[in-house]
Amino acid sequence: MGKGVTFLLLALVLCHALTVATGYKGEKQRRKEREREESGEEGEGGRRAEDMFLMRRSTRVIRTDAGEMRVVRSLGGRIIEKPLHIGFITMEPQSLFIPQYLDSSLILFVRTGEARVGCIYKDEMVERRLKIGDVFPIPAGSTFYILNPGEGQRLHIICSIDPSESLNLDTFQSFFIGGGTYPASVLAGFSPETLSSAFNVSVSRLTEMLSRQQEGPIVHIAPAHAPSIWTKLSQLKEEDRLMQVKRMVQGEVEQVKEWSWWSLFGMFSENEGNLFKDKAPDSYNIYKKSPDFRNDYGWSVAVDGSDYKPLKDHGTGIYLVNLTAGSMMAPHMNPRASEYGIVLRGSGRIQIVFPNGTLGMDTKVREGDVFWVPRYFAFCQLASRSSPFEFFGFTTSSLKNRPQFLVGANSLLHTFNTPELAAAFGVTEERIRRFINAQNEAVILPAAPGGDEDVKRASVKFEAVPEV
Ligand SMILES: *[C@@H]1O[C@H](CO)[C@@H](O)[C@H](O)[C@H]1NC(C)=O
Ligand SMILES: *[C@@H]1O[C@H](CO)[C@@H](O)[C@H](O)[C@H]1NC(C)=O
Ligand SMILES: *[C@@H]1O[C@H](CO)[C@@H](O)[C@H](O)[C@H]1NC(C)=O
Repeated sequence: MGKGVTFLLLALVLCHALTVATGYKGEKQRRKEREREESGEEGEGGRRAEDMFLMRRSTRVIRTDAGEMRVVRSLGGRIIEKPLHIGFITMEPQSLFIPQYLDSSLILFVRTGEARVGCIYKDEMVERRLKIGDVFPIPAGSTFYILNPGEGQRLHIICSIDPSESLNLDTFQSFFIGGGTYPASVLAGFSPETLSSAFNVSVSRLTEMLSRQQEGPIVHIAPAHAPSIWTKLSQLKEEDRLMQVKRMVQGEVEQVKEWSWWSLFGMFSENEGNLFKDKAPDSYNIYKKSPDFRNDYGWSVAVDGSDYKPLKDHGTGIYLVNLTAGSMMAPHMNPRASEYGIVLRGSGRIQIVFPNGTLGMDTKVREGDVFWVPRYFAFCQLASRSSPFEFFGFTTSSLKNRPQFLVGANSLLHTFNTPELAAAFGVTEERIRRFINAQNEAVILPAAPGGDEDVKRASVKFEAVPEV
């Protein structure tokens, strides 16, 4: 099939998929309404600023016996330059997230467990083994599957979902390639006659093919479960799986008709030599990079487009911070990017201030919470005194972030001349010198000695104090 024809068909499929997608959305919407987050945190307090920076609303978009996917939506709005949604995928041992493509691009981060991720990368089908700490991108429109081959281990993936190329139908839209009634294949929207002649198979064969898959988008593949084409595919060794797909594409295998639609989507180039020539990126392990900053109170690491090139294409950066109990990240701001954070372990507080110098948010967060901080907004993260505080996240730029610290030994204040600074604060030079030199540590600061944090929080007020 020529490239032009493939493209035309793809365009056609996409158009029609809209219809299917809308139907699917209706059903999804209803399910969503029913499942709208169980934890009764939504109604609490009604503090609008917190709603703004803490992304508490999570929606379960997929739930099957074999796994689930929750999405925390970005709220949109004027101060968000590039909204990212955050997805949480959980897959039971020996399960498969069946082949699909999305209208959004993803960056996967393996939180726990191991995965095999198959992905069509620039016309090549590749499979990558991901383990804990690995990062791997999936471009919008690329067909992919996720396999949890482990026999005893759940797989947890956190991903960024960048909807900038999306159709704006919903948070994001999945198009399932295989499948049947649940999830509905994108092909299901065509009239049977159209497909029958497109595939050159009988209508009955076609109907059978498009109604097999009913277990939902995440399926069990353990031998104990009813065998399906996914089970068969999953049980193969990697080379055999790729080989099998290749043979299917070439029509050497019995089930070729079941698979021939893969080529219809232009997923494989016709040139056999190219098919598995592997130029796709490797994954990147964030735990392997040595911290950009480390002291007695914690460490932080950032991965940008110069460390891992695929991030450049996605315009996204990644970071990981580990604070010891009681420590804090000094107040700082990101001049180049907004930041999304996900608490991986422990608990702490996030303080964000508005540009006009009023407190925007000061709230406790714990494992699984998602927060975001707009570009230019000053903020800090504080670990609770009882445990280390570990958080991971995405930034909306793949350039080196260069956060500007407002407090600490490396703060912006140290770059000004003392007389000007003294004038700006309206105090004597001696006083300002003592003031900004009092903190010897930079970036990650130790806990203030003693004191209960809640009491302290309530009592600190910045008010005009006459200079003595
Ligand atoms: C359709 O299938 C028949 C046999 O089943 C074959 O003779 C015919 O060439 C096929 N047509 C196309 C366009 O592939
Ligand atoms: C974070 O730091 C704590 C100690 O403060 C340590 O136990 C934990 O393993 C660290 N986490 C990572 C991912 O290194
Ligand atoms: C500061 O800015 C925030 C957000 O724009 C606003 O809600 C708040 O009322 C402002 N406060 C003052 C004192 O101007």
